[in-house]
Amino acid sequence: MSNHHQCQLPKHIAIIMDGNGRWAASRFMPRIAGHQAGLQAAKNIVKYCAEKKIAVLTLFAFSSENWSRPIKEVSFLMELFLSTLEAETKRFHEKEIRIKFIGDRTRLDPRITRKMQEAENLTQHNKGMVLMIAIDYGGQWDMQQALQKIMEKTLGGEYKPHELTVAHIENALSFPDLPHPDLLIRTSGEKRISNFMLWQLAYAELYFTDTLWPDFNEAALDAAIADYMKRERRFGNAS
Ligand code: FPP
Repeated sequence: MSNHHQCQLPKHIAIIMDGNGRWAASRFMPRIAGHQAGLQAAKNIVKYCAEKKIAVLTLFAFSSENWSRPIKEVSFLMELFLSTLEAETKRFHEKEIRIKFIGDRTRLDPRITRKMQEAENLTQHNKGMVLMIAIDYGGQWDMQQALQKIMEKTLGGEYKPHELTVAHIENALSFPDLPHPDLLIRTSGEKRISNFMLWQLAYAELYFTDTLWPDFNEAALDAAIADYMKRERRFGNAS
């Protein structure tokens, strides 16, 4: 192992799966066909990451802002989540995957939140990869709900505002007991964070590829991981 490169697999990979619509448009297909192809790519990547013993994989499936898409596309995505949960939960469970969801559950159809809860309950004691699916999630939403908890506690006298630490904030955010992403991948050529895990991406290595999400396969993931492993991470220290 060289001194300059860390040469370690990322423990936590987070992915902004972008480009389904453009993938479909380039084939003169409707956008929903792109989401269907994107779902297949997501299933392949979940399986591959579990086999590679990645500790945590986070997929950005639906953002707080995605509600403003055409109603037909939103309903299609919601039905796709529901049928995927129904079809895949058992299969993920057999692979020892622990399923978790992050995001605002209050705006989702109860049929979906019920399945989400069931999947979390069924897989909660599994020892394999954590698969975290972000639905109706936004980094700003997460900070908002964290601040609400913190303000309740300060108003309740648990601690004074000047006693607030980074650890308090960490604990109020959505997944306090998991490592932060080491590697963020965004497909389809866009170079933005788009309100994804704003706090937790503080030291993540960012990897952008022009590949559209439905085309993102095992080889593409290997290329992203290889690029990550060549980098030197200093976390604000000198090398
Ligand atoms: C981005 O492409 C994709 C989405 C907003 C939806 C992502 C959903 C899936 C891939 C299904 C995965 C499902 C689960 C349960 C993990 P886009 O529509 O923004 O593409 P564009 O930028 O080319 O229009």
